[in-house]
Amino acid sequence: MAPPRNLAGHAALVTGAGRRLGRAFAEAIAAGGADLAVHYSGSQAGADEVVEGARAVGRRAVSLRADLSTIDGASALGEVDWLVNSAAIFEPWTIDDTTPEAWDHHQAVNLRAPFLLSQAFARHRAGRAGAIVNVLDWRALHPGPDHLPYTIAKAGLAALTQSLAVALAPAIRVNGLALGAILPPADGEGRQAVRGVPLGRWARVEEACDALLFLLAGPDFTTGTILHVDGGRHLVPGKSP
Ligand SMILES: NC(=O)c1ccc[n+]([C@@H]2O[C@H](COP(=O)([O-])OP(=O)(O)OC[C@H]3O[C@@H](n4cnc5c(N)ncnc54)[C@H](OP(=O)(O)O)[C@@H]3O)[C@@H](O)[C@H]2O)c1
Repeated sequence: MAPPRNLAGHAALVTGAGRRLGRAFAEAIAAGGADLAVHYSGSQAGADEVVEGARAVGRRAVSLRADLSTIDGASALGEVDWLVNSAAIFEPWTIDDTTPEAWDHHQAVNLRAPFLLSQAFARHRAGRAGAIVNVLDWRALHPGPDHLPYTIAKAGLAALTQSLAVALAPAIRVNGLALGAILPPADGEGRQAVRGVPLGRWARVEEACDALLFLLAGPDFTTGTILHVDGGRHLVPGKSP
């Protein structure tokens, strides 16, 4: 793992931070010295643990519950200078079985909520510096037929990343983190997805966290970029296993 960055003086809202990757992102940010707003929907116990852990090492931390499939839920925001849009749903719908409800739900959580949060964030910052990282997927720039509503929402989020990078410049930098196989889905499905990854393994969670911190606290002259942490998966597009 890279040497820890000094993130003191910053405060981040991480969505979906009560479990799995979002939680790891929040914990890495707090470990670096920044304060935290820990968003969750169902994972209250995990969010509480993240808050307690951050406070135990001297950070200010709060949790906030919001259902990001609703417009109200996606507009709530505290006083933060970093926004990490990590919450998402990932369901295996195809062209044959995608329902209008499944389509709308993915667009609402994975695309509309990051947009509304970014809009609220920019209004809060009111010209002061800030950074947004949208958590993407290698599929976003190479959309295939699997996980169709998810993939298209992430493709939209990649486009939004670039659009907002221009719209919110020069105060706010907006970048994307396009992940490959980091953690298998909670139901265990997809372990075989390591096939087709040139680097031949799943990523370590720390590698995704390092990349996130790089985009948040690294070069100030970087905006609108989409950084792949996917072992090269996007270089060999095609149907996912
Ligand atoms: N895991 C991977 O290997 C991988 C690969 C590529 C990209 N990614 C991306 O990385 C990010 C995190 O992935 P993950 O695997 O950790 O996700 P995950 O386990 O599927 O967790 C989803 C997160 O989104 C939140 N969420 C879902 N629906 C919500 C809603 N309606 N309102 C509010 N929050 C909601 C959940 O909050 P609660 O639990 O509090 O309900 C949870 O924290 C996602 O953007 C995903 O697309 C992950």
